[in-house]
Amino acid sequence: MVRTTPSGARAVARCLELGRAPYSDMEGGLYRGYLTPAHRAAIDRMAQWMRAAGMTTRVDGAVNLIGRYDGSTDAPPLILASHIDSVRNAGVYDGPLGIMLGIECVARLAAEGRRMPFPIEVIAFGDEEGSRFPVSMLTSKTLAGSLTGIPEMADADGTRFADALAAFDTSPEQVLAAAHSGALAYLEAHIEQGPALQAEGLALGIVTGIAAQLRLQATVIGMAGHAGTSSMDLRRDALAGAAEMMVAIERTARDDASDLVATVGCLEAFPGATNVIPGEVRFTIDLRSGDAGRRDRASAAILHEIAAIAARRQLDLRVETVQDFPASPCDAGLMALLDDAMAAAGHPARHLVSGAGHDAMNMAPLCPAAMLFIRCRDGISHNPAEHVEPDDAEAALAVMSGFIEKLGELHA
Ligand code: GLV
Ligand code: MN
Ligand code: MN
Repeated sequence: MVRTTPSGARAVARCLELGRAPYSDMEGGLYRGYLTPAHRAAIDRMAQWMRAAGMTTRVDGAVNLIGRYDGSTDAPPLILASHIDSVRNAGVYDGPLGIMLGIECVARLAAEGRRMPFPIEVIAFGDEEGSRFPVSMLTSKTLAGSLTGIPEMADADGTRFADALAAFDTSPEQVLAAAHSGALAYLEAHIEQGPALQAEGLALGIVTGIAAQLRLQATVIGMAGHAGTSSMDLRRDALAGAAEMMVAIERTARDDASDLVATVGCLEAFPGATNVIPGEVRFTIDLRSGDAGRRDRASAAILHEIAAIAARRQLDLRVETVQDFPASPCDAGLMALLDDAMAAAGHPARHLVSGAGHDAMNMAPLCPAAMLFIRCRDGISHNPAEHVEPDDAEAALAVMSGFIEKLGELHA
């Protein structure tokens, strides 16, 4: 085996390697959904890298890959983690970079023959994006012990969640039983997915908290009919109604002129034919703000306005809450350690809020959590153009290693 020195450049190169077949289930781009063949291939490859870095590996009942580097004591572990799954037509760094940097931190300790006064676990969460099944961050919720039930759900091809789990030799019961026994702290390194760090010429930032997030599923029911014979005033066109609703949703967020963001990311029209007036439309709404009250006021305003549009157009409207994540502040003590590690490595301690969701937001029931952001070019993410400079990954590795040292001093 070729052993290279632990480095940010190797972490970046490994993310690039996982961006293509067999680690992607998409022709000509990256899509790695939870419990897919690409997920299995990526687990196998990452586990090789974890073992080469001196860790033992296992896969838990929720199909999280866990690499463990023992400490000099059997204390609860420090967890370094992020997610292995991706959105469709993704960039290669969203998720995997944090795992690769965790592996490099351990490789560095192993190369020096050192053990910390606590074990280190590097975890690759199976599902953060929710790009295959309708809920997201299921596997970090499980790990943190806060998942109390599993919804009956299927992917877009109709594969039931239970059957997808069975293909990985596990089951909904084993997912629920996969809670971690206890951890000392959680640190997630992740690309910023926004432009702030680049604009300020900074490689790294410390996350103060993660925005509250609400996911809704709307169904609009009208009346399907002949596109050539139904006069305009007699139609109950579900898609035209949904279009008006989408404009209202966008306007609500724009008019707020704050950190509030609203997105309709998925829209399906039925029966979906050129010459048929759409009788039913389903669309998603994703609403976020660092202030949960602001998000909830916007949600109420949107629901009121789209209900009025439905009534005026004689459409039926159903809206279900798919997921509701409160705002999650990062731990002040761990942020102070990151501040120190940033200063020691010569970086200003820039603090920022994350508008993107992260597995870190589920950790509160298990242990204190913190996040380190890494600059990505032009703030582009959820896009194949996502790009990270190896030097920035190197800078993150230095700060993560410094953080581990400082946590070690506290627990010596
Ligand atoms: C995950 O990327 C999210 O913020 O939805
Ligand atoms: Mn993402
Ligand atoms: Mn991510």
